[in-house]
Amino acid sequence: MNQNTELYGVVGYPLDHSLSPVMHNTAFLKAGLRARYLALETRDIKGCLRKVRDSGIKGLSVTLPFKSVIIPYLDHIDRLAQKINAVNTVVNDAGCLIGYNTDAHGAGKALEGVLHRGSRCCLIVGAGGAARAIGFMLKEQGMDLTVANRSVMRGVALARSLECPFVPLEEVEAVCADLLIQTTPVGMFPHTDRCIVPLHALREGMVVMDIIYNPLKTRLLTMAGEQGCKTISGLEMFVHQGAEQFRLWTHMKAPVAAMTRAVKAALRENSQIVNNDSS
Ligand SMILES: NC(=O)c1ccc[n+]([C@@H]2O[C@H](COP(=O)([O-])OP(=O)(O)OC[C@H]3O[C@@H](n4cnc5c(N)ncnc54)[C@H](OP(=O)(O)O)[C@@H]3O)[C@@H](O)[C@H]2O)c1
Repeated sequence: MNQNTELYGVVGYPLDHSLSPVMHNTAFLKAGLRARYLALETRDIKGCLRKVRDSGIKGLSVTLPFKSVIIPYLDHIDRLAQKINAVNTVVNDAGCLIGYNTDAHGAGKALEGVLHRGSRCCLIVGAGGAARAIGFMLKEQGMDLTVANRSVMRGVALARSLECPFVPLEEVEAVCADLLIQTTPVGMFPHTDRCIVPLHALREGMVVMDIIYNPLKTRLLTMAGEQGCKTISGLEMFVHQGAEQFRLWTHMKAPVAAMTRAVKAALRENSQIVNNDSS
């Protein structure tokens, strides 16, 4: 690193398990850029953004708990991020901080094959930032949506924004969907034995996507595979949301294959089970 090195980073806390640094540093290296991506753990997003402006950090990934909290401190918010009410990417354009949301793009890429195959009815489990991003993306694709969530208030609010029905978690078995997307942290490392979706909600022929990528094969995806569902892990969404960040920051196409390999290797190194079976 020297004074010509461009700096990027991820803001949030905790960041101990973040795979964004390994993914983006691999991308910069592969693209031959003199750039470095750092984990900027902070509880003070306002102060952190002041430092970002002062130090000329070129771009940020934004993770929990700041995806919505950061919005008032930015200079401009992209239309899609405004609609989702969550920012996961900041571009520092000569001191003007612009907020974007690339989660919708990442999910769209991960679901490309499924959407082309003609899935029509989707049950979204969860109603947080990721669910909002995915919900708006699928609505634009003309999908029929249903939202299920632990907190009724938050679930109903998202369902209202998406102009679709809400069902309580206990009633998801009754929803007739050909695509189910799990967007809560339930089942994430280290609590890998947990699953929020009851077995009877999983029917042969359905597509089931869990946006968790650690582990790649969650309890939900194992159950879904056993029921004869096609399964998709959160890895593709993660890499593609990162690839879109890379494009916004550098105006270059991201080296997606190298980024995927780096994330898988990091998961393996952390002794967490990597299972490629997202068939
Ligand atoms: N693969 C990717 O690229 C990608 C991208 C973004 C996020 N993610 C992952 O997606 C997950 C959610 O992220 P987010 O930004 O949407 O978070 P968020 O805004 O905090 O929303 C969390 C959602 O999960 C629900 N939830 C949390 N704990 C729960 C529990 N114990 N039981 C039932 N429901 C629970 C919440 O329900 P309530 O409303 O009831 O609290 C809410 O609907 C995280 O694990 C994150 O790492 C993955």
